[in-house]
Amino acid sequence: IGTPLIDTHGRVHRDLRISLTDRCSLRCTYCMPEQGNEWLARTSILSLDEIERIARVAAADGITTFRLTGGEPLLRADLVDVVGRLAAVTTPGGRPVEIAMTTNGIGLRGALPGLVDAGLTRLNISIDTLRRDRFFTLTRRDRLNDVLDGIAAAAASPLRPLKLNAVAMRDVNDDELADLVDFAIAQGAQMRFIEQMPLDAGHTWDRTRMVTQAEILENLRRRWTLTPVSTRGGAPAASWLLDGGPHSVGVIASVTAPFCGNCDRLRLTADGQLRNCLFSAAEFDLLPVLRSRRGTGLDAAIDTMLRDCVRGKLPGHAINDPSFLQPARGMNAIGG
Ligand code: GTP
Ligand code: 5AD
Ligand code: SF4
Repeated sequence: IGTPLIDTHGRVHRDLRISLTDRCSLRCTYCMPEQGNEWLARTSILSLDEIERIARVAAADGITTFRLTGGEPLLRADLVDVVGRLAAVTTPGGRPVEIAMTTNGIGLRGALPGLVDAGLTRLNISIDTLRRDRFFTLTRRDRLNDVLDGIAAAAASPLRPLKLNAVAMRDVNDDELADLVDFAIAQGAQMRFIEQMPLDAGHTWDRTRMVTQAEILENLRRRWTLTPVSTRGGAPAASWLLDGGPHSVGVIASVTAPFCGNCDRLRLTADGQLRNCLFSAAEFDLLPVLRSRRGTGLDAAIDTMLRDCVRGKLPGHAINDPSFLQPARGMNAIGG
């Protein structure tokens, strides 16, 4: 314990995405089926203590950012306590960790003051369309106003930078990309467009229907002059200044321009599985370890499993290979 998590390709891991639940208040077509999935068993969901224990070992090993995901993390009843426990985790250098959350925004207004008090540092909120009919078709729930209310609350909060995410979809929202950018600017947020990845429950992803980064940029150039921003680091989004700045737009081109070479992420599912990639086939099961060991032996066992997970990491995803197989676990149970 206490040495960095470096994989066989030299990538240092600093970011742990923690999925808190596989449940969600929406049913986005690119993620879940209409009827939802068979939910994870309650007994296999990591407890507050278990999450904290893993986080402490991960931070000792060089993880500096925890990102809370779902499903929808706001559905987790003890979310404020999770944030509070994670905020008390420190890095070996004594620096505080970053605690970010990716949410659909529903119910955010009420939860936000408590989350900020507990130590939440950053928010990304998903919003794929600004039109109520489209929102309903896409998410199968009539809750656009709840999402907009959550974004307004985030905009009024001290959390910055604030990012809004939209999966770009042909004939669904590809005619409102500029509107989304304008909306984000008005909220003091950065709009980011995401290439759709093959992670939908119905396995209906079709490369020819995917809106690519090139198309997104071409679309935005009708309205703005785009200048690339050079600083990116391990972030999946590349950014462009709009008309010279100060506002910018991001694109997450996981399919046509993968950032795997700079990937610094690990994932922990709500049921205690470590994954080294969104698309990994292998999972490393922490549950039996957490529930059978005590004391320093438990920390050592968590550390070993983190290292086993990192060691098995492939250089990149295989979405573009003819032999690509979609992971068995759906997006809602991986955490995005
Ligand atoms: P920042 O730290 O703010 O850059 O967060 P993020 O963009 O990594 O997180 P967010 O949860 O907002 O994810 C936005 C999109 O990026 C989603 O579609 C994620 O599935 C995708 N994404 C996040 N991490 C990875 C990754 O490691 N690999 C791939 N292929 N996509 C990722
Ligand atoms: N492809 C790309 N992004 C996706 N997300 C969910 N499913 C997919 C997919 N198939 C996004 C959500 C959210 C983030 C966590 O992941 O829209 O912004
Ligand atoms: Fe990392 Fe896998 Fe994402 Fe590539 S696809 S960036 S390797 S998690």
